[in-house]
Amino acid sequence: MGTESRTGMRVAPDRNLALELVRVTETAALAASQWVGRGDKIAADGAAVSAMRHVLGSIEMDGVVVIGEGEKDEAPMLYIGEEVGNGSPPQVDIAVDPIDGTTLTSRGMSNAIAVVALAERGALYSAPPGIYYMEKIAVGPEAADAIDIRKSVTENLNAVAEAKGMQVRDLTAIILDRPRHDAIVKEVRETGARIRFITDGDVAGAMQAARGHGGDILLGMGGAPEAVLAACALRCIGGAMQCRLWPRNDEERAQLVAQGVDFEQVLQIEDLARGDDLFFSATGITDGELLEGVKFTGKYADTQSLVMRSRSGTIRRIDSRHRLDWVRQFVQIMVD
Ligand code: FBP
Repeated sequence: MGTESRTGMRVAPDRNLALELVRVTETAALAASQWVGRGDKIAADGAAVSAMRHVLGSIEMDGVVVIGEGEKDEAPMLYIGEEVGNGSPPQVDIAVDPIDGTTLTSRGMSNAIAVVALAERGALYSAPPGIYYMEKIAVGPEAADAIDIRKSVTENLNAVAEAKGMQVRDLTAIILDRPRHDAIVKEVRETGARIRFITDGDVAGAMQAARGHGGDILLGMGGAPEAVLAACALRCIGGAMQCRLWPRNDEERAQLVAQGVDFEQVLQIEDLARGDDLFFSATGITDGELLEGVKFTGKYADTQSLVMRSRSGTIRRIDSRHRLDWVRQFVQIMVD
């Protein structure tokens, strides 16, 4: 189906880069899957990074990595500022997390995913240098206007329950299982709401809250890069997210003050991922509630991905079968 142009002519939809990004996350997931349960998260991440970079290089775009594996001197590939793509237009920003859940992968636990997002140049938020965490709250479309990160957990849960036409005790909060969340956990329990703890992977956690699968709200502190990736996903799904920079200690707080950064400022989803054309792809590495993981079936490997675009709001679930002898050209397959 085309859309109406200003002259009334029907025009064809333009290129959906997410359909090209799915090859990037599929390849990263295939590479990472070689390391599932082998106890080496560095090797798993390295394999996924190298595979992801290889396929990103083949895409027709002039991309710059803005959320990546770190600074150039510490990350040999997909470092912040690295140019990716074949250099032809469009000019875009790329956010990557070759494995969200490196520990989940190395321990063979559920919910590890490979993630990529793409946006217009300058559209994605970069946290100030030396700041690694954000406080996050994420919900689906029905509760998009109900959340306010400046308010208490109780007030937010009450507002979300009302917006969804539910009792607070029927809500489930998704929370990373960390000691830093003890106060949040206590307050959630006092409201009567339920909790689903995740050991890692809050990009998938935010997406599940937005889709209302496995939870209604994501609460707590997690990685700042993961916040931007989750914001891209939620701009496509239609949910809402609010974040605040979360300095872990006095040193990080002083650093922000010295840089003149207001760390109380509420970052809305549009501050994290601006523009009206965002593309997102995630592929399961290990089985999870959001996506199935990579499955090896003799000569083949099967993957499952979620592929989304904010402008059209299209969400595709793509099941792919890969011939291992073909994939071996791009990814080192250890298991024959
Ligand atoms: P990695 O895949 O890089 O290990 O990150 C997993 C993750 O759980 C993220 O999803 C989350 O945002 C962050 O780590 C939380 O950080 P921490 O493990 O330090 O609490």
